[in-house]
Amino acid sequence: MILGIETSCDETAAALVTLSGEVRASVIASQVDLHARHGGVVPEVASRRHLELVTPVIREALVEAGATLDEVETVAVTRGPGLVGALLVGLSAAKALAWARRLPLVAVDHLHGHVASLYLEPDPVDPPFLCLLASGGHTLLLDVRERGSFEVLGTTVDDAAGEAFDKGARLLGLGYPGGAALERLARAGDPDAFTFPVARMPGLDFSFSGVKTSLLYVVRDLGDEAEARRADLAASYQRALVRALSERTLAAAEQAEHDTIAVVGGVAANSELREALPSARFAPLALCTDNAAMIASAGRYGRSLPYPRYLDLDAYASRA
Ligand code: KG4
Ligand code: ZN
Repeated sequence: MILGIETSCDETAAALVTLSGEVRASVIASQVDLHARHGGVVPEVASRRHLELVTPVIREALVEAGATLDEVETVAVTRGPGLVGALLVGLSAAKALAWARRLPLVAVDHLHGHVASLYLEPDPVDPPFLCLLASGGHTLLLDVRERGSFEVLGTTVDDAAGEAFDKGARLLGLGYPGGAALERLARAGDPDAFTFPVARMPGLDFSFSGVKTSLLYVVRDLGDEAEARRADLAASYQRALVRALSERTLAAAEQAEHDTIAVVGGVAANSELREALPSARFAPLALCTDNAAMIASAGRYGRSLPYPRYLDLDAYASRA
């Protein structure tokens, strides 16, 4: 079994996955409540919480799998991109555990992790496919030809899709993170009530900062009336984001000549996006937002460093 550890943002997660991709345990300790009152993740607060949670979460995963550390053959851990202080907690825990038991370690890129959420049992997606990765930190169109790698076809030039959901939610007085709350509010609204234009970037890139600003202006212009129109605003705003995502995804699939489209990351949980891409394969709901099962899954395809060659590994904040 592979032990996966993920601490790149505000979820402390550990999972046990078999080499064939069966999830034996997946434990996620969310820090959402801790950060909500700040309206976003506070890096230093996140690191300290990871430090408290990482050992109990790993223990809990072993209990859930009915396993002991003797059955762990490899440790896979997120090395980046993410909050460096947060990443270092998971990375240090992984190194210590692997070192103590003379195990190999695989350093996993978080984005490869999201894609590898598609390779788990019981219903894995096989390459080649076009993948939309839409999360709180990233929006990418990926050409996936084999399980261990991908090529980036397009990305966002400003905000990530999840960030656009979160910022819109904030403007509408919903909490943080607001993607799921905005989706719930939108259910009672009319998606055609307002028109929010989304910038069309050349090629296969995205831009979401303008649509957020146009929501801000409409809310401001509505004044006192905005409160009564919140559901309509949410529905129209969500429609604009989903349209931008689905149109570009279909264009990318055509350009790269892929018959299969897959969608991963936190925004893949959005049901309007699921409806807009009816033939696409979506990551299972439990694996859309950050988790360690996807990291363990990616660990099966990454470079395994033998004991003790991983001790000097560093975390990285961004891919560049
Ligand atoms: O993948 P993820 O857990 O974290 C990152 O790696 O960034 O994604 C979190 C993002 C947040 O921005 C959250 O608002 C968004 O995913 N999200 C949603 C939904 N559920 C989560 N966005 C739209 N609709 C949802 N149902
Ligand atoms: Zn993520």
